[in-house]
Amino acid sequence: MDKTRLEGKNCLITGAARGMGAAVAEHYAEQGANVCVADLNIEGCEEVVKRINGRDGGKAIAVKLNVTEREQMKAAIQATVDAFGSLNVMVNNAGINKPLMFLDITEENWHQIMDVNALGCLIGMQEAAKQMIEQGKENGPYKILNVGSILSRQAFDDVVPYACSKHAVLAMINGGAKALVDHNITVNGYGPGVVRTELWEQLDKDLVSIGKFDKQGQSMDELAEKMILMKRYSYPEDVVGTASFLASPESDYMTGQLLMIDGGMIMQ
Ligand SMILES: NC(=O)c1ccc[n+]([C@@H]2O[C@H](COP(=O)([O-])OP(=O)(O)OC[C@H]3O[C@@H](n4cnc5c(N)ncnc54)[C@H](O)[C@@H]3O)[C@@H](O)[C@H]2O)c1
Repeated sequence: MDKTRLEGKNCLITGAARGMGAAVAEHYAEQGANVCVADLNIEGCEEVVKRINGRDGGKAIAVKLNVTEREQMKAAIQATVDAFGSLNVMVNNAGINKPLMFLDITEENWHQIMDVNALGCLIGMQEAAKQMIEQGKENGPYKILNVGSILSRQAFDDVVPYACSKHAVLAMINGGAKALVDHNITVNGYGPGVVRTELWEQLDKDLVSIGKFDKQGQSMDELAEKMILMKRYSYPEDVVGTASFLASPESDYMTGQLLMIDGGMIMQ
């Protein structure tokens, strides 16, 4: 690993108390980046920060953040700037899911998922971009990364609001890239497939309770067997390389792209 690849990059990662967000935060710091670890779960953030600050590499701070609250997003960005001097990379990673069969979807389920995954991403993009614009385009390039999904490109019948929210994430990657290019800000993202995190552990239980699968663990195993070309599901470690590439100067000539990291599930 190149421990200087992200040196001088000050990054904010939402939803970074656990799962992929935490893994990306740690990987960024190992490569020299300073990271603001932001999440609803402040205790989780503090654990991640303790691990990062106990090792060589970049430094970290913990911030409590609900991505749907604009004032909290502004405060998290300000905390990053106060601690490290600027914001260079924003990773909109926070996300939730709650499966329901199509005819059972409620307004509550729709709004809950769309608010966190889509509106939270929009607010993160907007507030990060305002800070980056203020810092001046001569100090860029700046990078905004949005976490999409295989469900940014298709939908399953038991997770339609989630798929809508992740299609929205893709639309914001495309539209945001066009809106922000003149400010020397690129917008890209990555789309994980089936990743063994607490999100999927909960999803697996919920899929059993709505009758989609018979027993726990079946969803991941069946998807791996039937839909993933590489015949295995993934772990947070599988996404960190792409997340780092998209934060690094190696991706400077890319914008508006969503890279799938799914073992060959979706090919488009
Ligand atoms: N696990 C998968 O299979 C999978 C697949 C594709 C995409 N994704 C996406 O990857 C991202 C990370 O997922 P994960 O599997 O690591 O999930 P996770 O549940 O392990 O972690 C998500 C984190 O987001 C935080 N969070 C939730 N709502 C928030 C809010 N309103 N404000 C701030 N933080 C909030 C949670 O506290 C949690 O720490 C999400 O956007 C998810 O939709 C996950």
